[in-house]
Amino acid sequence: MDLRIGVIGTGAIGQEHIQRLNHKTQGAHVVAISDINKEKATLLAKEIGAKFYETGEALIADPEVDAVVVTSWDPTHEQYVLEAIKHNKYVFCEKPLATDSEGCRRIVDAEVANGKKLVQVGFMRRYDRGYMELKEVIENRQLGEPLLLHCAHRNPTVDKNYETPMAIINTAIHEIDALRWLLQEDYVSVQVILPKQTSYTHEKLHDPQMVILETKSGIHIDLEVFVNCQFGYDIKCVVVCETGEISLEDPSYTRVKAKGKDYTTVSPDWQSRFMDAYDEEFQLWIHSIQADAITGPTAWDGYVASITMVACGVARESGERVAISLDSCPTLYQA
Ligand code: NAI
Repeated sequence: MDLRIGVIGTGAIGQEHIQRLNHKTQGAHVVAISDINKEKATLLAKEIGAKFYETGEALIADPEVDAVVVTSWDPTHEQYVLEAIKHNKYVFCEKPLATDSEGCRRIVDAEVANGKKLVQVGFMRRYDRGYMELKEVIENRQLGEPLLLHCAHRNPTVDKNYETPMAIINTAIHEIDALRWLLQEDYVSVQVILPKQTSYTHEKLHDPQMVILETKSGIHIDLEVFVNCQFGYDIKCVVVCETGEISLEDPSYTRVKAKGKDYTTVSPDWQSRFMDAYDEEFQLWIHSIQADAITGPTAWDGYVASITMVACGVARESGERVAISLDSCPTLYQA
């Protein structure tokens, strides 16, 4: 029988995930939705044949909802994830898990006390084919030990509400999780450099920024976050190993040769760049619920990302290299 999913927060990505669950993935469909924008959500509920709930809590409590997807605004994630744990229900929460490390820790503690992994965080880079191939080469040590990573996260433009800290909290958060997963190593320190700025930015946003992370074994990562690069959505990850180098290719299905040029296009946005990764993320989430064992990014991963982001913020303000220290990982999350 299909899993019956409830979605809390039916804005942009909530609606994309509903489409994905109802029309792209197998084994689940959306039976319930909730959003504070009642008018819009009621219409949507009618359109997709789901039930509308006045509150996320009521949706979670319904015995006819097997698992929950949280795609509401960031500050509401923690309350709904804790509520789902209270009802012993699987919950997929879009990043960030909570708006601060204390909130993430409360979720980890609740899950540990409940004794079962129920939470998956929406770090979908882990499901991108390019990252998966990089991980295989790194894990097999095919090119020897990884030594250095050169990465970039570039957006064509951002709006005026996007300010300096968001380069870490909204943007670099994806690399912070994906690179730690790729290397299977925690970070030990971070430095943030604020270089010469683009004239396309505004006074509340320092753009670009450079984040320099160091891992436990001494691997150095330089990550450029440049959110007004003008030319497209561009993700880079070059892994330099002892006997070779491996890097991400921008996925492309066609190539143009004309007027003396030979080129492929750059993705315009994150939706098109990572479309397949989102589909894979949800298909595997459904499989893992059916198998009663979550395999994706955990609440602990959400907590570690949050601690790392706090250190990035301190490093940006101070200009210094800042140590990243983690509590010991609860046995529930140890492989
Ligand atoms: P959005 O603003 O389009 O949608 C959020 C929806 O949540 C709105 O419809 C709003 O009315 C609703 N909402 C707010 N408070 C609520 C509450 N207490 N209960 C129920 N509904 C509530 O935002 P968007 O872009 O869809 O982002 C949603 C979440 O997804 C954010 O946390 C964002 O960080 C995350 N996200 C993750 C991405 C990824 O790549 N993994 C990409 C885009 C967003």
